[in-house]
Amino acid sequence: MMNRKTFLKLLTGSAAAISLNPLAARGQGDPAPARTGLAEPPDTSNWARIRDLFPLTRERVYFNTGGLGPPSGPVLDVLREQTLDQAISGETGHGLFHRAHRTAADYLGAEEEEVCFTRNATEGNSIIAAGLDLRPDDEVIFESHAHPGGSFPWLVQQKENGIKVRIFEPDPNSPEGNLDRIFSMVNERTRVIQVSHLTAPTGILFDVAGIAREARRRGIWFHIDGAQSAGMIPVDLHRIGCDSYATSGHKWMNGPQETGILYIARERMAEVACSHAGAYSLSDYKLPDRMTYVPTTQRHEYGTRDAAPVAGLETAILLQNRIGRERIARHGKSLVDRTRSTLREIDGLEILTPDHPEMYNSIISFRLEGLVSDDIARMLTGDYHLRCRNVTERGLNAIRISWHVYNSEDDLELLASAVRSIQKQSRS
Ligand SMILES: Cc1ncc(COP(=O)(O)O)c(C=O)c1O
Repeated sequence: MMNRKTFLKLLTGSAAAISLNPLAARGQGDPAPARTGLAEPPDTSNWARIRDLFPLTRERVYFNTGGLGPPSGPVLDVLREQTLDQAISGETGHGLFHRAHRTAADYLGAEEEEVCFTRNATEGNSIIAAGLDLRPDDEVIFESHAHPGGSFPWLVQQKENGIKVRIFEPDPNSPEGNLDRIFSMVNERTRVIQVSHLTAPTGILFDVAGIAREARRRGIWFHIDGAQSAGMIPVDLHRIGCDSYATSGHKWMNGPQETGILYIARERMAEVACSHAGAYSLSDYKLPDRMTYVPTTQRHEYGTRDAAPVAGLETAILLQNRIGRERIARHGKSLVDRTRSTLREIDGLEILTPDHPEMYNSIISFRLEGLVSDDIARMLTGDYHLRCRNVTERGLNAIRISWHVYNSEDDLELLASAVRSIQKQSRS
């Protein structure tokens, strides 16, 4: 529901201008550019103030940003207001995509022409898997811990087009170990390497710049599934040097649900065919046989889209910039460090997340000897009101804790005491 303040702001703001100006309403264009929601900059001076920006319930502690990162108040305001603007004007709002591309590209260390908005990371991963020109028996390598959103697009290519999927077990101990494991699998049929920038089950951070360097040297396409990195750690794609990168907006960036960004390096853009095309994909065409793609990654944004989530995602980016992206990453990492040293004291508890300083950030996963993670997750979430994620992938039998901007050290005390009492119960 729209609150009165937002409604009054709309009456005096751009929405009113649209409804009172019949010529503007009849024009080709979009409604006035969306507000960013940060016109009055929020107080981000400390973590308690930042927590106040999120309507996220205080009746339980939220440790599941790796699953979904709920939006802040400013993001919700923009989402509502942009939706209303579109309803009032009868325009799509598509014009604001241009500005949002710039904001997203700056945020990811890329050029505006190299990014487009998707609905989630899965869609970005799928565009790459379906769009590259792969032949039967061509090989794709990715890690065994890949999320279904990263692995299924390739499994489909394997089933439908005869490519071959090869997987490696991630090495939790050293970045060089992962380079060895990946490149020892490479042969003359290897066309693509993909890794999760940071893996979903146990939060392993890969040396993506090292992998990119070696993949480029060998002429192998390198795609990063960045669902767990953008918003958790600063990401600079040009510095990394990958060919493509896909992320979700609705995890660590705290954008609206059903948002994502896909990056394809300018010089490799032509190698990814459009699996879907429509309005906005082509710069020129003449039926029946002439067409030219738009010269940007935005050829993969086809047809009518909802501009409101894109405006919301842009606001989420601006909010992160305001808080400070290094600061967010440091906050998450230091809470993981404290979690590690606290949980380590618990007898029979095993931490699965690497402790190599360059191989983790804001996720920590652990398991408890003699206990099934389904039961622990049910108890933590149901009885102790600590929303965590059960990790069943690859038989890991673990619990995943995500530390983000709305978490604090107080949450750690609650977690540690809940884990101790679950263990005590199980032993009595
Ligand atoms: C590494 C990774 N890739 C892809 C996904 C899928 O994300 P989405 O649902 O936004 O497509 C996830 C979700 O947890 C993930 O962790």
